[in-house]
Amino acid sequence: MVSAAATDILYFDFRFNNHFFMSHYIVQPAQGTGGTIRVPGDKSVSHRAMMLGGIAEGVTEVRGFLESEDCLATMNAMRALGVSIERPGPQEVRVHGVGLRGLKGANHRLDMGNAGTAMRLMTGLLSGQAFDSELVGDSSLMKRPMERAATPLRQMGAKISTLDGKPPVRITGGASLSGIRYELPVASAQVKSCILLASLYAKGATTVIEPAVTRDHTERMLVGFGCHVTASNGEVRLEPPPSLKACSLEVPGDFSSSAFFLVAGSIGRGAGLILKGVGINPTRTGMLDILALMGADLRVTNHRTAGAEPVADIEIHPARLKGIHVPEHLVPLAIDEFPALFIAAACAEGETLVTGAEELRVKESDRIAVMAEGLRSMGVQCEVLPDGMRIQGRPAGAVFSGGQVDSHGDHRIAMSFTVASLRAAAPIRILDVANVATSFPGFVETARKAGLDLAEHV
Ligand code: S3P
Repeated sequence: MVSAAATDILYFDFRFNNHFFMSHYIVQPAQGTGGTIRVPGDKSVSHRAMMLGGIAEGVTEVRGFLESEDCLATMNAMRALGVSIERPGPQEVRVHGVGLRGLKGANHRLDMGNAGTAMRLMTGLLSGQAFDSELVGDSSLMKRPMERAATPLRQMGAKISTLDGKPPVRITGGASLSGIRYELPVASAQVKSCILLASLYAKGATTVIEPAVTRDHTERMLVGFGCHVTASNGEVRLEPPPSLKACSLEVPGDFSSSAFFLVAGSIGRGAGLILKGVGINPTRTGMLDILALMGADLRVTNHRTAGAEPVADIEIHPARLKGIHVPEHLVPLAIDEFPALFIAAACAEGETLVTGAEELRVKESDRIAVMAEGLRSMGVQCEVLPDGMRIQGRPAGAVFSGGQVDSHGDHRIAMSFTVASLRAAAPIRILDVANVATSFPGFVETARKAGLDLAEHV
């Protein structure tokens, strides 16, 4: 006889090992794109708003907050650390800051879900506290490298352990931190930000030297909270402040979420798309430069600002794209956009070569391997390189055979293959799509509005 508990285990195993039961999309070949859409708030900015708001003095009002699973994990972690957070309306958050020294130890492990940004930045923030903390995540996050964050923090005096370089991350409280001068071995905004957050608690100034420009949302937001941060010649310097002052923040639309629609508007037929209110911080928009080099027909209009961040509307129309060797200096400025760019490359004339992008191997999945598997399964010729990919594109007609691709639980891969339907000969079934909710709640509705024919099965 099988006990109730054993039945549960059998069912669990069956459910999670059987693709039939996994949430998936079925996307029909679409005619083309058209219309005006708005993507949800920026994930990077939303995480940072919760953290800095939580340690500021006073109430930080946030508008345009991304209500995705990743950002809610950060919100819940800050709540568990004693910060009271209200949600007065859709995408609105009110964070009652407790001050730099006001956080309290959580009475449980902090679960950061799928969010690498949350785990790395929280590691920095927690390394300066008086109490112990432990950070865990889902099966993808538990495999991701954490020593890149722990190493500089230890140099500052933090007491941190990882398990073979991966989570759980355990932080022993009460360490006294000192400012450091640290040269990042990899271009990583997460590691830079983790060090900057720890440096708020350090004795003396901290300088982080970047090998290449990476997103600077932390620096911009710290200035908004009254901190003294300077950036020049690849060096970011922060003087530890006596306190952070609460402020009002408006979160721009997430450029990385707009990326799928920039590719859709380019490779599909129809009128193309207008994307309203997208964050165009120049440390994020490498993809606009890459698409322009590929011959995309795009226009950035209606420039304005949302607090410290530049915002604009982006218009994109169908164009005959051509393959390029993506300039390596643009790679960190487009790091999250490569799954979508690989789809564009498959629809471009000739070869596209991406190099210097080995960081793609340690994202929510190994994005080089997983994208290559999906592209090949739909008849696209590509060669996997240690640090990138070579893709042979086809500029006309159906490029993707259709069939089944596995996103391996990676939100950006799931959304990228959705867009491939604009050049597909037959329906595409995309497996394991539940994690789209980590960054893009409402993706299915937005994609339909843009002209895609998409059904979600949960
Ligand atoms: C992020 C930085 C990038 C990016 C991630 C978000 C951030 O990671 O891939 O999605 O918010 O700082 P790395 O800094 O590890 O490149």
